[in-house]
Amino acid sequence: MDNFEPLIAVFSCHYCSYAAADLAGSSRIQYPPNIRIIKVPCTGRVSVNHILMALENGSDGVYVAGCLKGTCHFIRGNYKAEKRVQYVRDLLSEINIEPERVQMYFMSAAEGNKFAEVAREMTEAVKTLGPSPLNKSKS
Ligand code: FES
Repeated sequence: MDNFEPLIAVFSCHYCSYAAADLAGSSRIQYPPNIRIIKVPCTGRVSVNHILMALENGSDGVYVAGCLKGTCHFIRGNYKAEKRVQYVRDLLSEINIEPERVQMYFMSAAEGNKFAEVAREMTEAVKTLGPSPLNKSKS
């Protein structure tokens, strides 16, 4: 599986990680083309179902990128997202699928470098894991 290129969905908060992705782009900071950004008004908007649907419909990995703790514009959205991400990770573990396929990250709008670093980190991690067995689009 040397040439496996994972597809990774990123639920990205409008106020922080989406702005960080923008900054990475305008600063010409390179990150892998494997990620597909889904902009959300706040990570608190991301449900367990959204994450599972992304895994079933083509993504080999998913991460939610929200504002730094204590800076969510909707107060507790990123804490709620963190709990939901943990719920999905536990669910995956129970059915013997690597929980590392789903992660939560926190970053500010000024962290273009971190956005790129996280994209690289997730791409490498999911490359090592291989294609997701949950992915119905490849069966
Ligand atoms: Fe960014 Fe809530 S507004 S995570």
